[in-house]
Amino acid sequence: MVGFSRSAFSLSRWILLLLLLQLLNLPLQVIAMLESHPCAPGEYWFTDFCCKSCPAGMFVQKPCTVPHTQGLCEKCHPGTFTESDNGLDDCRRCSTCDKNQEMVTDCSATSDRKCQCQTHRFYYDPESPELCRQCTKCPQGIPVLQECNSTANTVCSQSASNHRDRRFLLLPSLSVLIFAIVVYYILRR
Ligand SMILES: *[C@@H]1O[C@H](CO)[C@@H](O)[C@H](O)[C@H]1NC(C)=O
Repeated sequence: MVGFSRSAFSLSRWILLLLLLQLLNLPLQVIAMLESHPCAPGEYWFTDFCCKSCPAGMFVQKPCTVPHTQGLCEKCHPGTFTESDNGLDDCRRCSTCDKNQEMVTDCSATSDRKCQCQTHRFYYDPESPELCRQCTKCPQGIPVLQECNSTANTVCSQSASNHRDRRFLLLPSLSVLIFAIVVYYILRR
């Protein structure tokens, strides 16, 4: 019994000691964290010192050899771009327009290509932004309220009332069915 309580006591003492060590370690951890990002804004970390970034539209051809200076920057190759200051060793590849999309603005050295769904044929659906959906065609004789464009589907004037009509058609046929069932049970008795 005595031995048990003594070991319990020493266990709590160990935990306290570990917590104390952890607390002493905290400032060192903070310093290490700060030291992993020692570069000023507009600089990037290369191997063991900071270099000045290359401007948008360019990439780092050769990193600096003297800290806080700019190495060799080179203009983005055709079909690639960088939108901001960077320490990249190559520019990013321009995205391409999907087959159901048309180009809004072409790719430049400082901006990616912008695409939109082909107007009047496809529209952008926020619920599945990765693809362009085909525009709805209003049935013959139903006027178009809102033409389809790249961001919104066609709106047909009577699509809502059509929906209600179908529900009203269902009601009489349902009552006929119930009537038939009732008649069947009455005749069987
Ligand atoms: C597409 O049409 C909707 C209305 O139907 C409108 O709010 C929207 O601004 C239009 N988008 C474009 C890109 O014209």
